[in-house]
Amino acid sequence: MIIAVDGPAASGKGTIARALARHYGLPNMDTGLLYRAVAATVQRLALDPTIEADAVAACDFDQDMLTDPLLREDDIGQLASIVSAHPLVRASLLQRQRRFAAQPGGAILDGRDIGTVIAPDAEAKLFVRATPQIRARRRHAELQARGSMLSFDRVLADIRARDLRDAGRSAAPLVQAADAVILDTSFLSVDASVQRAIELVEQRR
Ligand code: C5P
Repeated sequence: MIIAVDGPAASGKGTIARALARHYGLPNMDTGLLYRAVAATVQRLALDPTIEADAVAACDFDQDMLTDPLLREDDIGQLASIVSAHPLVRASLLQRQRRFAAQPGGAILDGRDIGTVIAPDAEAKLFVRATPQIRARRRHAELQARGSMLSFDRVLADIRARDLRDAGRSAAPLVQAADAVILDTSFLSVDASVQRAIELVEQRR
């Protein structure tokens, strides 16, 4: 069984995907980390994220990087949404995600284009969403807990900018797959969101 979990920044998709992975005993890939690793490499090598060839050069990132806490930073998320708009960057990361999805026992992937591009034949597709204010509140609390001084307004503005870039790009934009079910987590606790996600997956298998 392949489960595709897509949605905007801080919608809860990562938490839900990890919980589903535990529940079903399936491996989980957070595909945002791949784009974040490209972004961090662009930054480290002082490349220009808006130039496609520069961003492509950064796709050859060091694997150890995927566990670096630096990838979780807000500015890396912003940079990730800039490099991820280049079609050649997406193409360069495609096979690795498809291979992960094709594991014999099944897999769970979360991102922006799993249900539309990476695994269009996934048995279950969830599109996780929440209002921008609620997502900003969650992300702000998360950043504060890690010692960040970013204001709530700045986090909200960043989330809106990332939504616009991710939904507005022409290469694999953030869009709900026609056969995805919506899971709005705005007014759900983490436990209730996970419970609902399991119910929705069960309806599909
Ligand atoms: O999910 P996360 O916030 O870590 O993703 C960082 C950025 O990577 C997103 O804003 C998006 O631009 C990009 N991304 C993508 N396709 C995916 C996953 C992430 O374009 N499948």
